Amino acid sequence: MKIISSIEELRDHLSGQLRTAFVPTMGNLHEGHLSLMRLARKHGDPVVASIFVNRLQFGPNEDFEKYPRTFQSDVEKLEKEGVYILFAPTEKDLYPEPQEFRVRPPDDLGNTLEGEFRPGFFGGVTTVVLKLFSCVRPRVAVFGKKDYQQLMIVRNMARQFALPTEIIGAETIRADDGLALSSRNMYLSEAERAEAPRLYQALNFVATEMRAGHLDVFQLEHKAMEQLAAHGWNPDYISIRKRADLQPPSAGDLAQGSPLVVLAAARLGTTRLIDNLEI
Ligand code: PAF
Repeated sequence: MKIISSIEELRDHLSGQLRTAFVPTMGNLHEGHLSLMRLARKHGDPVVASIFVNRLQFGPNEDFEKYPRTFQSDVEKLEKEGVYILFAPTEKDLYPEPQEFRVRPPDDLGNTLEGEFRPGFFGGVTTVVLKLFSCVRPRVAVFGKKDYQQLMIVRNMARQFALPTEIIGAETIRADDGLALSSRNMYLSEAERAEAPRLYQALNFVATEMRAGHLDVFQLEHKAMEQLAAHGWNPDYISIRKRADLQPPSAGDLAQGSPLVVLAAARLGTTRLIDNLEI
């Protein structure tokens, strides 16, 4: 595997490649990321991964400084997956001057759910993703469904800017007890780790009730948040949304059986976890 930090060198290595499959990451790779690499390989060749902890998507009080950086072990994992190039730019490589041109996602999608609790987050994500795409020029790029809203926003961005990159969504990988794999799980204490699967259980509660025909969305969301709060969580939201646009379903949508997804974000101690489940 070639490890490249300069944009120019990356372009030289990839010139003439028309089937590049790309997986952008912020490192601290776990099985979830590795499943994205395997899916990428099914959709293209060569597979290019990136590791870049993108300052633009962290709020002033978020964990940019303490975000886990585990470069050596990440490299070993990617080598085993047969990744051809790891693009690992420094901040100077990717942002040699202040990044004044930015992508601004539409308010209805970018400022709801995660966007409501992490202002500027999706602007930061889409700006770096567009820039990484411009460096790698992939035919396909793979994003995990765990970050459901991110996947939808990136997909919409690619469509609206007519980017030549197809966005592929990969299923969430879970631990045996249901906890979605995430780099932030490593912040959990032993007791919190034992408690953490309750987030997925809360999503399953909502999904099971909805499937059984209990369609009082507000009541279900409220009950699920109460369940978490009763066990020491601080929920930001548990929200039932339409899969098509992540907006709340109307009575008509519910009656017509529009495809739904329930999304959640909640803090356990100081760790903020997110998850979702298609209903
Ligand atoms: O999902 C992530 O790890 C990041 O948001 C991404 C897509 C690599 C952009 O920094």
